[in-house]
Amino acid sequence: MKVNAIVLSAGKGTRMRSDLPKVVHRVCGYEMVNMVLKNLTEAGVDKSYVVVGYKADEVVKRVDSRFNVEFAMQTEQLGTGHAVKCAGGQLRDEEGITIITCGDTPLISPKTYEKLIKKHIGSKEDLTILTAKIENSTGYGRIIRNDVEQVKAIVEEKDADEQQKMIKEINTGIFCFDNKKLFKYIEEIKNNNNQAEYYLTDLVDIFNQNAEKVSAYTTPYPEETIGVNDLVALSEASNILKARINKEHLINGVGIVDPNNTYISPNVIIGAGTNIYPGCYITGDTVIGTGNMIFPNSVLDDVTIGDNNQIGPMAYLRNNASIEDNCRIGNFVEVKNSNIASGSKSAHLTYIGDADVGNNVNFGCGTITANYDGVNKNRTVIGNNVFIGSNTNLIAPLTIEDDVFIAAGTTVTNNVNKNKFVIGRTKADIKEKR
Ligand code: UD1
Ligand code: CA
Repeated sequence: MKVNAIVLSAGKGTRMRSDLPKVVHRVCGYEMVNMVLKNLTEAGVDKSYVVVGYKADEVVKRVDSRFNVEFAMQTEQLGTGHAVKCAGGQLRDEEGITIITCGDTPLISPKTYEKLIKKHIGSKEDLTILTAKIENSTGYGRIIRNDVEQVKAIVEEKDADEQQKMIKEINTGIFCFDNKKLFKYIEEIKNNNNQAEYYLTDLVDIFNQNAEKVSAYTTPYPEETIGVNDLVALSEASNILKARINKEHLINGVGIVDPNNTYISPNVIIGAGTNIYPGCYITGDTVIGTGNMIFPNSVLDDVTIGDNNQIGPMAYLRNNASIEDNCRIGNFVEVKNSNIASGSKSAHLTYIGDADVGNNVNFGCGTITANYDGVNKNRTVIGNNVFIGSNTNLIAPLTIEDDVFIAAGTTVTNNVNKNKFVIGRTKADIKEKR
């Protein structure tokens, strides 16, 4: 059966107190809306329709192109029911089922979406609501059941009476609908409530009125259902996701000395036998092989690391840097958009930017690739077995061939052929003190 999804992402997120649209705020370094799309994709959803509105361009620009996505526009934010309607032009006539979820609910796991879909299809429902039982239900829509436990309606916090507010079962904001029925009844939603909004949640009552089949799937993992409305919830969600990600790596054989203080983004891949020390941030599409030591407070963003390297402490690797095997990238070394082949070492205080470095190259302390001339970025190419003495400036564009030895304190401006010795220093005068 065809499974599509609608991801509601048009709201401003006033409570975030930020100019950024809410759904592009990040959990563990990844935009919430992308996290939702990743979970949906892993759950087997064919295509997602992202409803955008507030700063739509900003959201569209940041949606990860790896997902199968179409956008729908909601120019005025008149409520979640209205937002879904805005995807009707594209979706109305599709057979199959539609998951509705929110761009601010990033922790619902693929498994939970799968379970919801399975229950919906298995018991031939027209609408299945994902609910959760939580201690503090303040702020969420409450699930109203009758005496035989059938779901009758959802009441929003702002419309709930005192007794309804006591209900601990909440609407997670996630639903599974028969697509045709969804767009048939959506026309019937009215905005006669305390917020004068078109509530998607009114469909529960409307489906019941029309004798359509409604039920709920109550997740056993209520911590997944957190809806991020402010920065407090964002930090809570990040902590929950961090623990989930780190646990998965630990189970896969990645050593993490202190999982509370290690920050790994959802798309990072790490091989077994790599050890990560506290304070590291590993983000983007970073791929790390096996047997590496990543020492404290290192930042690795969108980089590829092979096997058996020693990185850090306090190393900064970014912008598609790649490190092959058996390398050492030590303290206060930055590597940007550069490739470093096996066995090369840069133990401390070095900037390697826009460079292609061969095997067994030694960077002395304080080596700088001067890659930027004020207008353009230029590349530095370094062959195999090159020794670079301390405090060397390599002024790009520059090619240094194999087996070259550069003496400490040299500024290299011209290409150097194979097997040469390069020295360029002003000799210090030694004079009597006055
Ligand atoms: C919503 C649900 C509530 C549920 C909670 C779960 C409704 C009416 N309420 O409340 O029952 O417990 O989520 O987290 O559905 N959005 C649009 N267009 C709009 C309004 C909202 O795209 O016109 C988007 C927002 O960007 C957001 C999502 O829909 O991603 C949810 O909206 P939000 O205002 O956060 O709803 P809640 O008050 O949290
Ligand atoms: Ca919300």
